[in-house]
Amino acid sequence: MKNWDVLCIFMVVRLASVFLVQTFFVPDEYWQSLEVAHGISFGYGYLTWEWRAGIRSYIYPLIFSCFYSLLKYLQFDDPLLLIYGPRILQALLSAYADLCFYQWCGAKKWAVFSIATSWFWFYTGSRTLITFECALSTIALSKFPWLGKGKDENLKFIWIVAILSVIRPTAAVIWSPLCVYHLMITKYKISSLIITRYIPISLIVLAASILLDSLSHGYFIVTPYEFLKFNIIQDVGTHYGSQPWFWYLSAGFPAILGIHFLPFVLATLVVIKHRSVHPNELALLGTVVFSLTVYSFLPHKEFRFLLPLLPIALFISSRFLSVWSRKASNVMLWTVALILFVGNVGPSYYLGYVHQRGTLDVMGPLREIAIKDPKNTNLLFLMPCHSTPLYSHLHVNVTARFLTCEPNFNNTSGSYVDEADQFYSSPSVWLRRNYPANGTLPSHIICFDTLKPMISDIMSRYKTTHEIPHTNFPTSRVGYNVLINERIGN
Ligand SMILES: *[C@@H]1O[C@H](CO)[C@@H](O)[C@H](O)[C@H]1NC(C)=O
Repeated sequence: MKNWDVLCIFMVVRLASVFLVQTFFVPDEYWQSLEVAHGISFGYGYLTWEWRAGIRSYIYPLIFSCFYSLLKYLQFDDPLLLIYGPRILQALLSAYADLCFYQWCGAKKWAVFSIATSWFWFYTGSRTLITFECALSTIALSKFPWLGKGKDENLKFIWIVAILSVIRPTAAVIWSPLCVYHLMITKYKISSLIITRYIPISLIVLAASILLDSLSHGYFIVTPYEFLKFNIIQDVGTHYGSQPWFWYLSAGFPAILGIHFLPFVLATLVVIKHRSVHPNELALLGTVVFSLTVYSFLPHKEFRFLLPLLPIALFISSRFLSVWSRKASNVMLWTVALILFVGNVGPSYYLGYVHQRGTLDVMGPLREIAIKDPKNTNLLFLMPCHSTPLYSHLHVNVTARFLTCEPNFNNTSGSYVDEADQFYSSPSVWLRRNYPANGTLPSHIICFDTLKPMISDIMSRYKTTHEIPHTNFPTSRVGYNVLINERIGN
């Protein structure tokens, strides 16, 4: 297939996901990118503690901020453009990364099929998230001087790896085994490669990122260093939940691969059995094992952290499928393709379109409320912290408050309880303390239906105007529906 045709397929799939994927995945999609960009471009936007502490690089939000500022300059800053524009930009980058993946796999049809059907990549490929790093990582993999790739040893990937590492230092976990592999197979002298390439490129990228971040933060700061300090030394990640050590193996990794896990396991067996003829695949498998091992040591685990491993796993499985398909009958081919396709459409549809969509859908009515009467609108979100986006989706400077869940910075040992936990331990007490009877109440309270009976006191002064479906699997703090409750009278 021609590159252009393949790129068109990928663009269609990724752009479709912009509009089909309508659910909430993780708060960072909004709070670590769009919200920050909105603040830079429009002067209001909530900065989470990560930004106040300076553990994040501004590189990614600045891309969207440029886009937002352009819209502002053209007086074209429609909220829907602010919401969908960044996702379209991300989708285009993801589509380009898909093309790179295809070329990396040796231009095989199964490569197109595997990456285009992968449910988790469909689910995340147009989100403003670690998706950016996954796309860059895939582009770097395609530029990497793999064994047998030809005479010219292309070293451009080192630039991308350096950029990835300053954006999120954990990228080094995936890339250090690959860089070691590069040093093992390179035609250059190792010492000269390190001295003339690795070190200078790292220093240039690091200096540029320090400059960018220091300018954005307004003072000298090395964000990767602050990131490591907070996450490893102070272990703040654990505040956001911890899973057992085997979680990535038992749940995380199989889940993100979905049904592609089966060909991946078969491919792994083949690679291990014939390891002498698959040096590249073996290095990639080693990378997967190494990354999963290191990540398993960190108590805070999330599906999305594994995203950059997805293209690596799909590379291994799609090459296996290509070899297998040469000998397979047509019936077998179509059966396997159909099973893989259906096995991916299921989770894509349910998780992308049904599960957890209320907290995004609620932003539409809230925006209308805010536009209608910005002065008298005062939103209170009584939900787990960062359950919804905020100003990037409202695009109106109204007063809004939500329950925060900041980690314990003072290291006061013992009984630190964040605001959301305080609220949930006794909602009515928290409300009486924060909204005394003689003070003004918020104009709108946004909460899950499961909370409503627990705050019936204050609810007697509100009427529910919207009931928006959210999930079929409620938990103690997340209900079936999201409610908008409007204050009655003044
Ligand atoms: C947004 O509203 C807050 C509070 O009313 C105000 O202090 C701030 O200046 C406003 N920002 C902009 C850019 O309008």
